[in-house]
Amino acid sequence: MNQPRDILITSALPYANGPIHLGHLVEYIQTDIWARFQKMRGHQCWYVCADDAHGTPIMLKARQLGLTPEALIAQVAIEHQADFAAFRIGFDNYHSTHSEENRQLATQLYQRHLAQGHIIERTIEQAFDPIEQMFLPDRFIKGICPRCNAPDQYGDNCEVCGASYSPAELKEPRSAISGAVPEQRESVHFFFQLADFELFLRDWTRGGSLQPQVANKLDEWFTAGLQQWDISRDAPYFGFEIPNQPNKYFYVWLDAPIGYMASFQHLCARTPELNFDKYWRQDSTAELYHFIGKDIIYFHALFWPAMLRGANLRTPTAIFAHGFLTVDGQKMSKSRGTFIKARTYLEHLNPEYLRYYFATKLSSGVDDLDLNLDDFQARVNADLVGKLVNLASRTASFINKRFDGQLSAALPDSALFNEYTAAGERIAIAYEQREYSRAMRDIMAIADRANQYIDEQAPWVIARDAERANELQAVCTQGLNLFRLLIGWLRPVLPGTAAAAEQFLMIPPLNWADLNQPLLNHRIAPFQPLMTRIERAAIDAMLAASREDLTATAANTTPVQSNESANNAVNEFMNESTNELNAHWQRDPLAPIITIDQFAQIDLRVARIVAAETVAKADKLLQLTLDIGGEQRTVFAGIRSAYSPDLLVGRLTVMVANLAPRQMRFGVSEGMVLAAGPGGNELFLLTPDQGAAPGMKIK
Ligand code: MSP
Ligand code: ZN
Repeated sequence: MNQPRDILITSALPYANGPIHLGHLVEYIQTDIWARFQKMRGHQCWYVCADDAHGTPIMLKARQLGLTPEALIAQVAIEHQADFAAFRIGFDNYHSTHSEENRQLATQLYQRHLAQGHIIERTIEQAFDPIEQMFLPDRFIKGICPRCNAPDQYGDNCEVCGASYSPAELKEPRSAISGAVPEQRESVHFFFQLADFELFLRDWTRGGSLQPQVANKLDEWFTAGLQQWDISRDAPYFGFEIPNQPNKYFYVWLDAPIGYMASFQHLCARTPELNFDKYWRQDSTAELYHFIGKDIIYFHALFWPAMLRGANLRTPTAIFAHGFLTVDGQKMSKSRGTFIKARTYLEHLNPEYLRYYFATKLSSGVDDLDLNLDDFQARVNADLVGKLVNLASRTASFINKRFDGQLSAALPDSALFNEYTAAGERIAIAYEQREYSRAMRDIMAIADRANQYIDEQAPWVIARDAERANELQAVCTQGLNLFRLLIGWLRPVLPGTAAAAEQFLMIPPLNWADLNQPLLNHRIAPFQPLMTRIERAAIDAMLAASREDLTATAANTTPVQSNESANNAVNEFMNESTNELNAHWQRDPLAPIITIDQFAQIDLRVARIVAAETVAKADKLLQLTLDIGGEQRTVFAGIRSAYSPDLLVGRLTVMVANLAPRQMRFGVSEGMVLAAGPGGNELFLLTPDQGAAPGMKIK
C-alpha cells in the first residue's frame, strides 16, 4: 500500500433552477466512483459539492413562480440532494454558493486581485429592457438571425445556422422577458485581466494538469488571445453585492468555483481533523481535483487557476473533463422522452444499473458517451445479474441450506484464488486513471472465469452425494470468495449492491487491502437476491413518463441557466451540435425563391393520426390513417426507422392534402406528412401547437 494521500475532489456545482437529469449524472457518478475508490484505498479523501445558486435565470425563475430566490434555491437544494442521495452520490458535504462562507471567500479573492491591480473598470454599452428596468444577458434577447434570417433566435448564437454574433447584430431584437425593444445603455463594469496570467497559464497548461485534448484546446485559446473577463453585473441580480460598489454584483461565474472552497470550509467547521488552509494554501501538498463537463473548461482551466494564483492560493492538481451524454445516439430530447430526469429514472429503475452502465462507458477522455437503451438492458442483465449475482446465488444456497451458513476452513484451490487477486492492482490502476470501462472489462472477464469454475465443479452434482459434503462446502466457499473479490472491486461503482452483499456475507465494509485475504471459517447470513433483471417495459415506462413531463412544463418559457460565454471560444467545445446544423445547410442548400402564389398552391392541413401500422415487406414505411376534419386519408410515410407506430396514434401533425395520389405496391398514398431531418432515425415529424384541430388550413 502506498502512502495515504490527502485528496479533495469536486464535481461542478449544478444550477439551482432545474432538476438533475441523466446528463448531469454522468459527472456525479464518474466523480463518486473515483472518490469511493480512493477511500477504499485508504486515502484521506473528501468529496464536496454545492448548488450554484446565483444568476439572472434563477432570479427570473423565482419571480415567475412567485417565490423569493432564497425560497426557490432552498426548495431546489432539497430536490437535488434527494436525487443525489438516491443515486448514492456520497458527498462528504453539499453546500450552496449563496452562503456566508462563499460571500467571505469571494470578497477575499476579489480584494486580493483588486489590490494587485488585476481588476479594472470600464464603461460598456449593453442591451437594456426599459420595461423591466434591467440589463439583458445575451440569452434574454431574441430576434432574427443576421445570417440566415431564422426567427426567434437567442442574442448570442443561432440554433438554426450555428452562427455566433453579438446581440447588437440581431434583427428586430426583443427582450425575452417583457417583449420590449431593448435600448443600448452605458454601465460601468469590472473586468478581470486574464492576460496578466498568460505566462503562468501557459506553463500550467503544459504541466500535466490537463488531459491532452484539453491542453490542445487551450493552445488555440492562447493563440486567439486571452480577453478581459467581465466579472460584474448590474442590479437587479441575484448574487453577492460587490464591496463598496452599490448595485453592482459579482457575476455568477466569479463566485461559483469559489463555492468549492466554501463547501470545503463548511465541512472543516464540523470536522475537527480537517484544516482548511492545509488544503488551499499555495504550498499545499494535498491533491485537488475538479471533475467537470467539457462545456465549462474555459472557466476551470483558465479563469479558475488564474483567480487562485493571483490570490496566492494553490492551483488544482488536475481538471478532469468528460464528454456529454447522448441517449440512443442522439442529443437528449424532450419530445423523444430521452430527456430523463433523475427522479423519473428512479421511479422505474434501480440506480445501480445506471452507475454500472456509465462505468462501462467512461474513460479518461472527453468523448461523448451514449446511453443506448437496448445495450443498457442487455449489458446490465448479462453482467450484473447473469454473472455477478448468479455466482453468489448458486453457491450461497448450498452453504445456507446444508452447512447452516458456515464457510469451510480452507479454499480447495487457493492457487486459483491468488491468480484472481493478482488482477486487483491492475484494476486499481484502471480506476486511478479513470479508465473505468477497462476496469469493468477486466472484472467481468474474471467473473466469467469464476462462473466457469463453478460450472466445471458442478456443486449441484456433488450435492447429490452425501459423502462429498466437505467437497461441496469447499467448492461453494471458493465460489463465494470469488464473488467477494468481484463485489469488492465493483464497490466504488455499486455501493448499494456491495452493502447488501456485505450484509449477507456478514463482513464489515470492504477495503481494497482486505480483498487478498480469503473469507474462511466464517458464518454468512441467508442469501437475499441482490438485483433483478431489467425489463424493457420499465425502460418504456420511463420514456413515456419523460414525455409526459414535457407537457406539464411546456408553459415554462424562461431560458434555462446556460453557461453564458465570457468569450465566444467558451462555446466551441460544446457546439459540435451547432456545427452539425451547418451540415444540414450543406446537405440541403436553399431552394430557388418562389412567390407567395406558388406557395399558396400547396394545401397544408392539420391532421390527426388515427391509425398507424407497419407495412409488410416495406421496412421503411408506415401506413398512416389521417383524419383531416371528417375526411380520412391513407398515407404511406417513410418514417418507420424513427417512430414506432403505437406512439404515433392520436397525435397531430401536418399533411400536404392536395398532392396527387400515388399508386404504390401496397396501395394508394393520398398525400404526405411533413418531417424534418436527414433520415434514418433522425426524422422529426411536425406537430402544430396546442389548440390546432384536424382540418385547419396552414397558411
Ligand atoms: N453551474 C455550472 C457549473 C459551475 S462549477 C463552479 C454548470 N451547471 S450545470 O447544471 O449546467 O452543469 C453541471 C455539470 O453537469 C457540468 O459539469 C456540465 O458539464 C454537466 N452536464 C450537464 N449536462 C450534461 C450532459 N448532457 N452530459 C454530460 N454532462 C453534462 O455548468
Ligand atoms: Zn441563423
